[in-house]
Formats: sequence, C-alpha cells, structure tokens
Amino acid sequence: MASLVLVSNRLPVTVRRGKQGAELVRSSGGLVSALEPVHARGESLWVGNLGGEPTRHVERELTASRYVNVPVSAAETRDYYLGYSNSALWPLFHYFQERCVFSRSQFATYRRVNERFAEHVARHSDGATRVWVHDYQLMLVPGFLRKLLPAARIGFFLHTPFPSSEIFRLLPEREEILDGLLGADVIGVHTYDYARHLVNTLRRVKGVAIREGLVELDGRNVQIATQPVGIDLKKVKGAAYTQAAESRVNELRGMLAGRRMILGVDRLDYTKALPLKLEAFRKFLERSTRWRHRVIFIQIAVPSRTEIPSYRHQKEEVDRLVGEINGAYGTPGRTPIHYVFRSISPTELGALYRAADVAFVAPVRDGMNLVAKEYVACQPEDAGVLVLSEFAGAAPELREAIRVNPYDIEGTAEALEKALEMPVAERQRRMTAMLRRIELSDVHAWERRALRSLEAPRPAVLGAPAMYEPEALADKLRPALRNSRAPLFMFDYDGTLREFVAVPSDARPTAAIMRLLEAAASMSKARVFLISGRDRDSMTSWFGELGIGLVAEHGAFRRNPGTGAEWVASPGLADARWKDEVRPILVEYAQRTPGASVEEKTGSLAWHFRNAEQDLALWQARELNSHLEEYLVGAPIEVMQGAKIVEVRQQGVTKGAAFKAVVEELGPFDFILALGDDTTDEDTFAALPESAHSVHVGEGSSRASASLASPAAVRGFIRSLLSGPAATQAAG
Ligand code: UDP
Ligand code: G6P
Repeated sequence: MASLVLVSNRLPVTVRRGKQGAELVRSSGGLVSALEPVHARGESLWVGNLGGEPTRHVERELTASRYVNVPVSAAETRDYYLGYSNSALWPLFHYFQERCVFSRSQFATYRRVNERFAEHVARHSDGATRVWVHDYQLMLVPGFLRKLLPAARIGFFLHTPFPSSEIFRLLPEREEILDGLLGADVIGVHTYDYARHLVNTLRRVKGVAIREGLVELDGRNVQIATQPVGIDLKKVKGAAYTQAAESRVNELRGMLAGRRMILGVDRLDYTKALPLKLEAFRKFLERSTRWRHRVIFIQIAVPSRTEIPSYRHQKEEVDRLVGEINGAYGTPGRTPIHYVFRSISPTELGALYRAADVAFVAPVRDGMNLVAKEYVACQPEDAGVLVLSEFAGAAPELREAIRVNPYDIEGTAEALEKALEMPVAERQRRMTAMLRRIELSDVHAWERRALRSLEAPRPAVLGAPAMYEPEALADKLRPALRNSRAPLFMFDYDGTLREFVAVPSDARPTAAIMRLLEAAASMSKARVFLISGRDRDSMTSWFGELGIGLVAEHGAFRRNPGTGAEWVASPGLADARWKDEVRPILVEYAQRTPGASVEEKTGSLAWHFRNAEQDLALWQARELNSHLEEYLVGAPIEVMQGAKIVEVRQQGVTKGAAFKAVVEELGPFDFILALGDDTTDEDTFAALPESAHSVHVGEGSSRASASLASPAAVRGFIRSLLSGPAATQAAG
C-alpha cells in the first residue's frame, strides 16, 4: 500500500497517437508543474487519467513511474471533462458565469467518474495512507473516499480561485459539491481571499458552524487552510541555465538585434485574457513612438481544451488580433508580435525567461500563476521586470511586480512602458525581494505544509478540570499549606490575577492584588513568583519593590526574590538571528488582520490579536501558527499560541523550564501551587511534580487539577487560602 497517494484528473503524461503508435507526452499546466516535484521524491503513487487507451508498452511505463490510470471513456470525457468540469466549474470559479453550461446529465457523469477515481484510490490505500486530491475536476472524490475509507487522512487542494459565495451559489449542484469537499480533513486553497470565500459559502449554503477556520461536523472537523503553491526553483533554474539554454539565449539575442523583448506564456484560456493583452500591446505601440520599433512581443500560447467552443472562439479572436496588429505596425522583416501556438520545451521556456526584458502576465482571474514565479526565478543579474495582473493568485506574494488591472487597457499600456524604462537598480531591488519570497515559499514548503496539516494528530482532548468555588478550593488546599514548611507560589499575571484589558499597559496591578502578593510573600519561608509573558521593565516597575521572584517573557528572564536581585537570562536564549526571518511574516499577518499588532521582546516576537475581530483573528492565528511551524522546521525555535497572542521564541525557554530552574536553585518545596490561564501556563503545569496543586483559570480544557472561573475568583481564593490557620502561622 502506498504511504501517499496523489490524485488529479490528468496524469503528468498524456497518451497521443504518434507516427510510431502510442507515445507519451508531458501534460501542461500549473497542477502538473506543482505535483511533479512531490512525486519525484519517490514515496507516492499518482492516480489520474491518461487521456487515451494505454498500450502494453505504455502500461509498463506507467507502472515504472508509479502512475495509475483511471479509465475514462470518450463519451464520459465529453460530459465529465469537457462538460461539467470545464464548461460549468472552470468558468464559474473564474467569474465567467455567462460561459457556464449547467447540465444534470453531465453532472451525473461527473459524479460517476469521481466515484471511480475514489475506488481506484481505495484499492491502493489503507488506514495509514495519506490521500491528496487535486482540483475542481475531482471535488466529489473526498466524499466518496470517506465512505470507502472512514479513517483515511484526506487532503483536498483547489488550484483555481474559490469564488465569492454570490457566484458559487449559481451552481445547481452547489450542496452536493460542498458535501463532497467536506469528506476531506483539510481543504487547501492558494490565497486567504479564496479561503474566506469558501468559509462564507459553507456557512451560507450548508449552514455549518465554522470557528477559526475549522468546520465543525458531527464527530469530526475539516480545516480550511491557505497554502499558496510555489515552484521548484532548482528544477526551473536548472532548465534555464544549461548549455543548450545558453545557446538558445544567444540565438534569441541575435534575433532581437538590440530590440527589447516582452514575453507572455499562457495556456490559451479565456481566463488568461490574451485579447486584452494584445489590445494593451496595440495601445502601447500606438502611444509609445519611442518604443514602437524597438520592441518584440513574444506570446507563447499553449493549446488547451481545444474541443470546447469557447476555447476555439478565443483562439480565433487571438489569431485575428495578432494579424491586425502585425499588419498595422509591422515593417518588412520586422513583426511586432511573435505568436507561437504550441507547447514548448523546458529549455526553450527557460531561455525565453532569461532573455525577456519584461514578462507580461495579465490574466483576468488565475488560481495562482506559476509562470510569474518561474520568470522571477530565472532572472539574470541585470534583472527584467514583471508586469502582473492584480487578479492573479500570485499577486499578494509578488508585491514588487508592476501591478495592472488587465481591463484597464491604457493603464496596462503605460505599465509596459514603465517596465521598459525602469532603471536597473530598481529592477534588481524588486526582483531580489520577490525571489526571496519565492525561495521561502517554494513547492517543497507547500507540500510540507499540506502534508503536515494532514498528519497532524487530531487534537487530543484534554479534559476540563473540575470548576471550584473560590472558598471550596481554599478549604481543600488549606490543610496542606498549613503543614508546609517551604511553600512555593507561582502566579501568572494577565488573565489570572488581573483581568485582560484592551491596552496591555493599562493592566496595572490594583491595590488588592499588591496586598495579596505581599500577604503570600510574608508567609514564613514562602517563595512567591510572578511568572508572566510581560517584559522585564514593566515587571520591575510594577512589582520590583515587593521583593518577590519574577519571571519575564514566558521564562526568558528570571529575577530571584529580594529587592536588589538581578535579572538573569535563561541559558536557552541564544543567537537571535531567527528574528529577522520571522518578523516579516508576523508583520504580513498583522497587515491582513485589522487590529492585530507585532511586539518585539528581547527573547521573542509576539503577534497580538486582542483588539482584532476574534473569529477572523483566531483563524489567522492558526494559519500563522502553521505557517511558522512549517517555515521554522528544524530551527531551535518554537511557536506557541497563548490567549490572544502567538509567540515565537527560542526552544526550551518556557515557563516550565523557569519553574524547574527555581526548584533547582531555591528548592526543595513541600507545597507547590501554580495558577494560570493560557497555553504558556500549561508548560508550567506539565513541569510540576505530582504532589503539586495546579489551577486553571476559565472554562475549557487544561492539565491543571482544578479550575476557577475568573481572576476575581482567583483573588477570592488566594485571600481565603491565606486567611485562617495558614495566615496565623504566617503571622507567627
Ligand atoms: N508550461 C508548460 N508547457 C509550456 C509552457 C509552460 O507546461 O509549453 C508550464 C509552465 O512552466 C507553468 C505551467 O505550465 O509551470 C503553467 O502554470 P500556471 O500556473 O501559470 O497556469 P495554468 O496553466 O495552470 O493555468
Ligand atoms: C489548470 C488546472 C489544472 C489543469 C491545467 C491544464 O492548471 O487547474 O487542473 O490540469 O490547467 O488543463 P487541462 O484541462 O489540460 O488538464
């Protein structure tokens, strides 16, 4: 049985009838480019359709490559692939509702073929297999598979946009499609906007509850995740910098004869809006007399879905426009547009990327657009310029491109001019920034992130500790405290002793809190520690005079009891270079979450979302968490989600480690009481010996042995605990 099964409509090879009989050719498009590097690692089986009948010889090749062909007849292809997939779902998801053809019988075939895909997958899977299903042609597969393999780990990834719910609900089979998707454990999309659309659609159409990006179904959850696909840099660059590509670059330069080159590479699909690109180029030639005879526009149009009338019409329109523009602006021996209607080899593509002064990527909608990323990856030192549609899924990641609205023909023509005139230093600055992001979020990062979310253990359910009235808990613990000769109190501050407030610096301790801390510290031989996420300065200024022990920044710094004591850094704190890597990620998430902010601490970086809209922020926090965990794989860093905060810090610097250091230096203690309200306090609870007493504040799950309802209840409890016999002993 395979440990990973990739499932897509198309296998990376398609069978064709050639002169020597059946031959296999590479399939085109972004999905194949994205999955090939995943499959190349050798662990997976790839289940998909070959696009024709395999011969014996082809079958052997498929087996050797770990491909499994799911047969789809010619009649089924018409209804399932050309029909429902590419004449209903594809146009709808790209906001071309006027091109949609909805047909019940085509949907029936779509359902039948999806079921067949699920059956093929099930034959090669067992309980331990991770199944990763791809794209809009197979949206019912997760549902069928869930029935066949109830315990399977199923991921689904959509390579197209997910449209707004207003558009999606035009689909007659909208409920069945969503039910199919919900068979998965994780549904991945490229951008945060698509994820938001999917969540709104699920709420509106299915009426399901969704919290923090988790769809709550009966007995299981489905996670909605933003997982932008990247490219395989090594492979893409590898193809562009071979000897063969080098010669081709030189040939191209010869052909250009000093003229500049604008390059377009698109499948010939109406979503890529080739007619609008050509109109913009025409406008550019019309207005830029300076450039008119000094530029060539090479447009590669890869044939796609040519059996569908709207694709054929698109081609006719493109042919006509190319003819018109070349007729109007060409001179003998010089044609402004070189139009190539075929697929090209990776070497040819790499050479074009290297030689192009400008890449012109202007779809009206696009799930991601890998061509834009591949162009950036291949840029030589005197880099080119990327002109990119704001409607491409890659636009949020490639912010330094010159952005265009492809419907704005004049604006796009101006952008081409600006691109050609951009000084080299600025071109390099923009390219370097984009390249950096492409490197960080490459295809391997995409895969790791998606598969990790699939492998992640389903959240273990910690029980909720018994909730006590303050008096009752004090009565229960008082006898042990009374018998103690060396008690230790570890109090968390925010959310435990003190209520949260909107501005963290306003949460100064009240007189009542100070009195309680003093009372605890005045007990004979007692040690009191405040163990908080706050920084050293605010802790010193608020509590320095009390003479109690202080732990700042979740364990990064400690100051032993005594008013003159020094702050000591945790030995776990080391080199802080990781912060330069992590800071921009936190800033990016803060920008897209109104109300969130980034705080820099000595030993950590924190992303606060207390003042943001909670549902959105919690979801963003979860995404940030998984983004960072994936990104920081192997680094000595850990990410923790606390109450309204995501914090990144050096590994081993925890409240639990601080607690252990206190016991080592100042112990032993015969009565230990720890109180806290969030995940960081769970570290303390986990480090406690069995005999210790731990109290969680608020509802919900925790390792603690008891719960109190609120900070007010905590204060009542401490007051009561310290009064009576124990306080008498303290006084004595
Ligand atoms: N590509 C291809 N054959 C070609 C030219 C390009 O397979 O003749 C590749 C290109 O390298 C890129 C992919 O096709 O990886 C296109 O992906 P993109 O995300 O840009 O668009 P899609 O075609 O998936 O809509
Ligand atoms: C897009 C789709 C893919 C598809 C590719 C090529 O990238 O998202 O699912 O494979 O286009 O289209 P085709 O119809 O030839 O498979």
